[in-house]
Amino acid sequence: MPATKTQFVCQSCGSTQPRWLGRCPSCGAWNTFAEEQITPRSGRSRGKVDKPSSQPQVLADLVPDQSPRLPGNLPELDRVLGGGFVKASSVLIGGDPGVGKSTLLLQAAASVASKGCGVLYVSAEEAPAQIRLRSDRLDLACYDLQVLGESDNSEAIKWAEKLKPGMVVVDSIQTLRRTDLESAPGTVTQVREVASSWTDWAKQNESVVVLIGHVTKEGAIAGPRVVEHLVDAVLLFEGDHVGDVRILRTLKNRFGPTGELGVFEMSTRGLKGVENPSKLFLSQGGERLPGVAVSAVINGSRPMLIELQALVTRSFFSAPQRNATGVDQRRLSLWIAVLEKRVGLVLAGQDVFLNAAGGLRLEDAAADLAAVTAIASSLKDQPVRPDTVLIGEVGLTGEVRAVGSLERRLSEAAHLAFKRAVIPATGWKNKSFDGIEVIPVGSLDEALEVSLADR
Ligand code: TYD
Ligand code: MG
Repeated sequence: MPATKTQFVCQSCGSTQPRWLGRCPSCGAWNTFAEEQITPRSGRSRGKVDKPSSQPQVLADLVPDQSPRLPGNLPELDRVLGGGFVKASSVLIGGDPGVGKSTLLLQAAASVASKGCGVLYVSAEEAPAQIRLRSDRLDLACYDLQVLGESDNSEAIKWAEKLKPGMVVVDSIQTLRRTDLESAPGTVTQVREVASSWTDWAKQNESVVVLIGHVTKEGAIAGPRVVEHLVDAVLLFEGDHVGDVRILRTLKNRFGPTGELGVFEMSTRGLKGVENPSKLFLSQGGERLPGVAVSAVINGSRPMLIELQALVTRSFFSAPQRNATGVDQRRLSLWIAVLEKRVGLVLAGQDVFLNAAGGLRLEDAAADLAAVTAIASSLKDQPVRPDTVLIGEVGLTGEVRAVGSLERRLSEAAHLAFKRAVIPATGWKNKSFDGIEVIPVGSLDEALEVSLADR
């Protein structure tokens, strides 16, 4: 039996030290070192190799990987994965506690099982009876779906070896533990060992393993970040705690695109994919109010219309508030500065609030023009003209800069019956597109001129 070693592991980045330190020299985090017992694996000593077990091959001679996929009945999940789960791969789904990870995976597991593929759901968090309760609530047919209530990782692997399921869901990597390691469940060592044992199992058995992990917005203590490099795909399941909208995004995908978004709504009967998210992110009701502007953004392969709402009011504080939700706070400051300097609007002494509707986080610069217009619209109390979509990046000199995929953005706007599109002047020639009047603008001044209606 190899000797057990004590070491201190940073619970934030996973780096190890022989003694406790107040601050991690690798990631700079304070007070993150925890004592962990490491039992080195027995067998061949590390780094000592007798003969190579694999051969290098000429790239041109290799057959491209066309791993079969396991599509579920959840098109939003399948699209985010790039066409379904890939056999012999491992996927990590991270998210805040309570966001709906177990719900999503139980629905996916049931639909994969309904196609005749064996599925093992390993739950260390909830008792099997609780899972049955959830499946009843979700109205799932209980096909060949085996549920195992187990927190000992080696026992769970033994069952997987025996049942040979095509898919395994591990709920969650923070609660399963290897009993031969002395560290507590959820510590970096445990999380890493559990994740790597399942990833190895998936490769050896041509199965899909989905690991569920809890992660906090701050970057997670012993969170799944330390296992990101071990798995083939990392998805993040997010949602604001007030609304029902849940967003699944890819952080890493070895078998498909990243930047893809899946949109779900949490209902009393579980998660439902939202086929047309643009409708969800646009407020209903015909009358346009000051401070509201619509843009077309691209997330992965899909264009989406999104509404930006601004409220500009006289401030009662010496330092006015600048508050952004779903938009980077620094960009809000920048837009305010551009409006002050280049357009001549006076925003000093005004509180500015800016929201992206529906809890979406905006990362596409093409939404700049709509954000700036929404702020100007609220300040001037002039609504944006009806059925107008605004697309373009705003530069520091107040110029409207070109953005990519304009055609896809315009088609989505046409699809939702928009009639006018204000777009960057560079790179576009036609006067109309699919029934939309296209208005090219070079500067923010011009854009506000054509976008804002009279009071
Ligand atoms: P859960 O999947 O347990 O979250 P996680 O595994 O990420 O911790 O779901 C948590 C929330 O979802 C819970 O507060 C209840 C809600 N919920 C619904 O609104 N409808 C449903 O059908 C189900 C199963 C859960
Ligand atoms: Mg759960």
